[in-house]
Amino acid sequence: MTTVVLKRTGQKMPLVGFGLWKVTKSTCADTVYNAIKAGYRLFDGAGDYGNEKEAGEGVRRAISDGLVRREDLFITSKLWNTFHAHDHVKTISKMQLGLWGIDYFDLFLVHFPIALQYVDPSHRYPPEWFGDDGKVHLQNIPMSETWGAMEELVDEGLATNIGLSNCQGSLIIDVLRYAKYEPQVLQVELHPYLTQEALVQLCKTLGIAVTAYSSFGPQSYLELGMGKDSASLLEHNAVGSIASAHSKTPAQVLLRWATQRGIAVIPKSNNHGRLVANLECDSFDLTDSEIARVSALNINYRLNDPVAIDPRMAIFA
Ligand SMILES: NC(=O)c1ccc[n+]([C@@H]2O[C@H](COP(=O)([O-])OP(=O)(O)OC[C@H]3O[C@@H](n4cnc5c(N)ncnc54)[C@H](OP(=O)(O)O)[C@@H]3O)[C@@H](O)[C@H]2O)c1
Repeated sequence: MTTVVLKRTGQKMPLVGFGLWKVTKSTCADTVYNAIKAGYRLFDGAGDYGNEKEAGEGVRRAISDGLVRREDLFITSKLWNTFHAHDHVKTISKMQLGLWGIDYFDLFLVHFPIALQYVDPSHRYPPEWFGDDGKVHLQNIPMSETWGAMEELVDEGLATNIGLSNCQGSLIIDVLRYAKYEPQVLQVELHPYLTQEALVQLCKTLGIAVTAYSSFGPQSYLELGMGKDSASLLEHNAVGSIASAHSKTPAQVLLRWATQRGIAVIPKSNNHGRLVANLECDSFDLTDSEIARVSALNINYRLNDPVAIDPRMAIFA
């Protein structure tokens, strides 16, 4: 199993993709080009990552060099919090497509179930979390309005599949009450310190594919000055001993722990050797007891929580 079939469109989403958050802007085009050359077909971007233009350059070069065709790739992007109003969804998604230099996204996700006041892209892009005064400005836009606009992207061919990110069960269930097109993918933080079993089970029941982000747990957050209050997952004895038993790296075990259960992963690396090794995580199988041993590391440790920015954004409370 190297793909997961998305409900409604039947499109196959690769189980291993490449994450673009914190991919260095100056080398992003080359990184994406070389990732395609190495075999990656899914790229996980977002307006917020500030490197959509560069990622698109890498994609366009790979297509013009004949490495792939557009239809061989699965390109994901996300709607930032400041663009949740009905009319802004279409305008910004068209702008994002223009940055990438493509006609459609294979998947467009609502990045967070948080609506912030609109920031005109000519003023600041990406807008990030804070206004000019350094404060967070919430806006009252219900998810029903945003989701309706996401559905229009499908009708107009701007996004083939649409989904949610950073949402919990109650919100997903509510979206299903009014959705014309159900969310096809949920992208959430998921690693052995935050296994999210109930949420994964809910998605399985509803036919929503799950993509795990931050598969290496605290590792991604160290450069942000976070994630230091728990042991590294990459250096954890339990993960290391399983890796040795299979002659694999701890990173490959952490990725396989997810993909073997049909959960997609999108590891990020600015290093070509690690990027290639991450893609090769599907060349072995863990035993059920090894999967259980990794899952037993769960401590419900969440690294990416907007409550740390502002208590009014406690979306996981
Ligand atoms: N929806 C959301 O809100 C959301 C939030 C966070 C992330 N995401 C998506 O998920 C993607 C992945 O998550 P992430 O970037 O947080 O974290 P990640 O992929 O779990 O970890 C990246 C970190 O691990 C290192 N690394 C990568 N491969 C390695 C290997 N084989 N061995 C050792 N270290 C390795 C990287 O350093 P080097 O670069 O130096 O290799 C980087 O420090 C993001 O890029 C983004 O696309 C989405």
